[in-house]
Amino acid sequence: MTLSKRVDGGTDTENAWCSALCCLRCRGPLRTGTELRCDACSTVYPVDDGIPRFVPRDNYAAGFGYQWNRHRLTQLDSHSGMPITRDRLMNASGWTVSDLKEKTVLECGSGAGRFTEVLCETGAKVTSVDISSAVHANAASNGRFPNLRIVQASIYELPFPEESFDFLFCCGVIQHTPDVEKTFKTLFRYLRPGGRFCIDVYAAIIAYTHPRQLLRPIAKRVPPAKLYALVERTVPRLLPLSMKLSAVPRVGQCLTRLVPVANHSHLGQMDAETARNWSVLDTFDWLSPRYERPQPRRRLERWTRELGLREVSIERHRGLYVISGVK
Ligand SMILES: C[S@@+](CC[C@H](N)C(=O)[O-])C[C@H]1O[C@@H](n2cnc3c(N)ncnc32)[C@H](O)[C@@H]1O
Repeated sequence: MTLSKRVDGGTDTENAWCSALCCLRCRGPLRTGTELRCDACSTVYPVDDGIPRFVPRDNYAAGFGYQWNRHRLTQLDSHSGMPITRDRLMNASGWTVSDLKEKTVLECGSGAGRFTEVLCETGAKVTSVDISSAVHANAASNGRFPNLRIVQASIYELPFPEESFDFLFCCGVIQHTPDVEKTFKTLFRYLRPGGRFCIDVYAAIIAYTHPRQLLRPIAKRVPPAKLYALVERTVPRLLPLSMKLSAVPRVGQCLTRLVPVANHSHLGQMDAETARNWSVLDTFDWLSPRYERPQPRRRLERWTRELGLREVSIERHRGLYVISGVK
């Protein structure tokens, strides 16, 4: 359920949770209604289709909004019938359902809500944030969960009290922000001391040497609808070749890098149309982001030291570093 629906008709406990939003300008409380109003400094924030918005409608992540509204369901486990996202979240974080149940979770950069769905199913109280119009795709798919609130906002300026969440989850996101170090460090302001986190980021060198990097400088400047149409035409031609190459023993994974379409290992378990759909989505996701800034392990180690994080693990999962631990 999105925020305004709940504040209009929720229980007192729900309202207390939902209305704990702060003004970005003065950090004062916001009064809820058809819009959000700060009585202390008179700033007003719009509520679009039940989702409070703390950023301009148009921003650097508009391509993501386009992508996730076109592929609202593609990667949701409830749609694919495969636990791909659940497995990724649980393996990356090491969290269990009983760790999460009834705890507060801040999910940043939620896209269409594939991870939101898994988090909500654990019984956690989930707050999902995205800077783009993807929040509307997420609400359409996951709005049925009473333990979810969705906010359109930027990680750089979040309308929540500091140190107020038990868990922080942010996967697939920070490399796509303009200042990755600032993004990484800002996220921890909202996690309580002793709270647990899981963040991933593209791994430097591996991601930088991918052939998509030859196309990105041009592709990211093409308007989303045009680029999407191009990807939609190209994938059906190149994906069969990529699949054949990936079947070559030992060197298959390297060979697929020569063909500029996304081809993950689980596509082989899907029917042809579903695999094409995933590949179109992921190929667009490779080519369209304004920012893509992979990070080296040493830099991540330095940031976690500077923040005084504990029990830190930085593990490489294919082309990603997964950073988890305790604040
Ligand atoms: C590659 S998508 C990943 C979505 C989702 N986490 C997933 O893995 O399916 C990256 C998401 O981060 C969001 N994003 C980028 N910069 C952001 C920021 N500053 N604050 C919040 N969200 C941001 C984008 O709008 C986009 O939906």
